[in-house]
Amino acid sequence: MTEILLSVKNLKKYFPVKQGFLIKRVVAEIKAVDDVSFEIKKGKTFALVGESGCGKTTVARTVLRLTDPTAGEIFFEGKEISKLRYKELLPFRRRMQIVFQDPMSSLNPRMTVGQIVTEPMLFHKVAKTKNEAYEKAKKLMEMVGLKTFHLDRYPHQFSGGQRQRIAIARAISIEPEFLILDEPTSSLDVSVQAQIINLFLDFQQQFRFSYLFISHNLGLVRFISHDVGIMYLGKIVEMGETDDVFEEPLHPYSKALLSATPIPDPEVERARQRIILRGGVPSPISRPNGCFFNPRCPFKMEICEKEYPEFRKVSQNRWVACHLVK
Ligand SMILES: Nc1ncnc2c1ncn2[C@@H]1O[C@H](COP(=O)(O)OP(=O)(O)O)[C@@H](O)[C@H]1O
Ligand code: SF4
Ligand SMILES: [Mg+2]
Repeated sequence: MTEILLSVKNLKKYFPVKQGFLIKRVVAEIKAVDDVSFEIKKGKTFALVGESGCGKTTVARTVLRLTDPTAGEIFFEGKEISKLRYKELLPFRRRMQIVFQDPMSSLNPRMTVGQIVTEPMLFHKVAKTKNEAYEKAKKLMEMVGLKTFHLDRYPHQFSGGQRQRIAIARAISIEPEFLILDEPTSSLDVSVQAQIINLFLDFQQQFRFSYLFISHNLGLVRFISHDVGIMYLGKIVEMGETDDVFEEPLHPYSKALLSATPIPDPEVERARQRIILRGGVPSPISRPNGCFFNPRCPFKMEICEKEYPEFRKVSQNRWVACHLVK
């Protein structure tokens, strides 16, 4: 049986929209994450995909408890962590790390790389002394493809790809089991992207890391992930094993997203049906009635404007929220 490392159940994160000059009143809610459930297996990668603003980063921040959920549960190795207080949360914080999209803004420009990489080790007591942390940092530099003399330099002295390597060294310095990768290569050149992705894959093989991989790059998602959830306006609309979903997407939104990515084989490319997405993503403050995708959906039916479709299990490993899919 596959072991589950992280399990998220009915997660919600709403942000109040306030208005008023002196007295601010809540006039609306942004339902950034609205009833999202998924599981991440040990040593495997679960990808969250979707257009900008659909709630991916908010899922990440809530899972890490950088922000409190509005509702729902988060289980880490079976232990519910969504309501733990700071002190009880600390041991779990050590086991979960995040790598952000923009390495420059996530690295303190006034600290040397050595300080950046050793700080979490000392804070979480993974190393007992500064010396021990520094020795570990030297090894980490090699692991991420940097040199030990880089430890004495500052973030601005590096390229984007190198800075992301520093961020990765810092993240893995405290020997986590679970890493959230929030669009970790989207600010990098394509050739550098591939190197960083390979680093993640190497580490997963070596250390059995579990990843939550967030991206809108479907090619990367297919390459790196085992399972995938496709998000639209705060909800997962389709979820399943990556190969299955990519080979036969069931939800019209997944179909549209996937049909927009080029396939290297010209025969397949010519034969397949392209679904062009009309219009943009509606505002998360005023989502359409019924299925949120209905204004853009070429298969819309009457019921689609009335009822939000239930997120149902339609086969062994596949969940879909669409009135069409029985
Ligand atoms: N701190 C916040 N306060 C208010 N709204 C927020 C906040 N963080 C995110 N949002 C809103 O929540 C929605 C989802 O954002 P986000 O999770 O960043 O999406 P993604 O990462 O998929 O691009 C967006 O409409 C965004 O504007
Ligand atoms: S529920 Fe209706 S509108 Fe929504 S994706 Fe399915 S067919 Fe399209
Ligand atoms: Mg984001």
